[in-house]
Amino acid sequence: MMAVGTAVIGSLQFGYNTGVINAPQNVSTWSSRFSEPIPQTTLTALWSLSVAIFSVGGMLGSFSVGLFVNRFGRRNSMLMANVLAFISAIFMGFSKLAASFEMLTIGRLIVGVYSGLSTGFVPMYIEEISPTSLRGALGTLHQLGVVIGILMAQIFGIESIMGNASLWPLLLGFTLLPAVLQCVLLPLCPESPRYLLINCNEESKARSVLIKLRGTDEVSEEMEEMKEESQQMMKEKKVTIPELFRAPMYRQPIFVAIMLQLSQQLSGINAVFIYIFLNGQNIDRYVHLAHSVTTGLFVVERMGRRPLHLIGLMGMAVSAVVTLVLLKWMSYISIVAIFSFVAFFEIGPGPIPWFIVAELFSQGPRPAAIAVAGFSNWSANFLVGMSFQYIEQLCGPYVFIIFTILLLGFFVFTYFKVPETKGCTFDEIAAGFRQSAGQGSDKYSDTGPRGLELPTPEAGGLCNC
Ligand code: GLC
Repeated sequence: MMAVGTAVIGSLQFGYNTGVINAPQNVSTWSSRFSEPIPQTTLTALWSLSVAIFSVGGMLGSFSVGLFVNRFGRRNSMLMANVLAFISAIFMGFSKLAASFEMLTIGRLIVGVYSGLSTGFVPMYIEEISPTSLRGALGTLHQLGVVIGILMAQIFGIESIMGNASLWPLLLGFTLLPAVLQCVLLPLCPESPRYLLINCNEESKARSVLIKLRGTDEVSEEMEEMKEESQQMMKEKKVTIPELFRAPMYRQPIFVAIMLQLSQQLSGINAVFIYIFLNGQNIDRYVHLAHSVTTGLFVVERMGRRPLHLIGLMGMAVSAVVTLVLLKWMSYISIVAIFSFVAFFEIGPGPIPWFIVAELFSQGPRPAAIAVAGFSNWSANFLVGMSFQYIEQLCGPYVFIIFTILLLGFFVFTYFKVPETKGCTFDEIAAGFRQSAGQGSDKYSDTGPRGLELPTPEAGGLCNC
């Protein structure tokens, strides 16, 4: 639990830096340099820039995940990334003193790279150290960390706390503290046993880490399962990003992984946050509080990933329509529908895409797959952040119709294409995809894939592990 908690500090940083951005930061450096108020158009442009540059950093970071995790290990990669958090905190924290919004922008870019790396490292580490029966529940904690981070940013950003002209550098520089905390705690956490055994061939180290993590000596079954995965991996070449798209057995899971990431971002979640923020409804804090409460958590082990994702997507689509209708008639009550939109997001589309990618792939292709999926997520995040304001200026709240249509599209996709991974070991999941790609598997060839069943309307997409 301590290892998961320490890793999740990375998610918290991502959330914090997503939530912390608001206009006064730019206004302040601008006014002190030019001694005149900032024009509205420049303000919008600078604000968009600091939002967008963060996602550009995220794209760079997420795409680089594979460069680190196999070379340095999962835990040490997380540790090293903190250098970026330190540098960005310095840039952002001192930008006011230097009256430089360029420094602020560079700081935002660097903390974006850090966040991009975290969105790969954290779910990967958590999934690899968790027992199969708790993998989803613990995987959800990444998203919980994100929403708590956003909430903290909202609270600290209250004017009387740090969200004012003199204290905002502290608000941004706050990123330093979680980084210090993570640097102290990470060396006390174990490396992923899967990395130790499958990537480094360190069987005895892997066993002793596993014994520590599980709190029992009875780890032989899990060791066996990892060894089987390891043997399977020997048969595969090192999996590069182009390989993911070429090899038939990876093509389907990588397609599913990308679509799930897109379903998260193109659901319009961040657009809703921007909308609330720009319309000054002053309910951001409460919306984010609602957020944290509904994050899927342990239900994900009982109900499974697929049903929760489906319920979440449909709930968001309905809430978006209800918001639109209510906005017209009773704009005040539309807030309730916004709450339900956000709550449904946290049931499925928020947490599930982040951790399911690690489940859809075995040890060999996992880093490359996580990089591709993370990159898709951040690119879509960038796209929505850049274009939303302009589309909203064109069509007002009707912009949410576009998201509703996308949500329904993703619902249909999930129904037909996303498998259930609940309770399946990584090896079983990979075997399921191998089988469906027509390559069979020695382990399951007599009985068919005991691992997972890919969803067909008849099968209902249920896992029979
Ligand atoms: C997810 C998204 C992120 C969003 C957050 C809101 O983590 O990736 O873009 O801001 O959820 O809770």
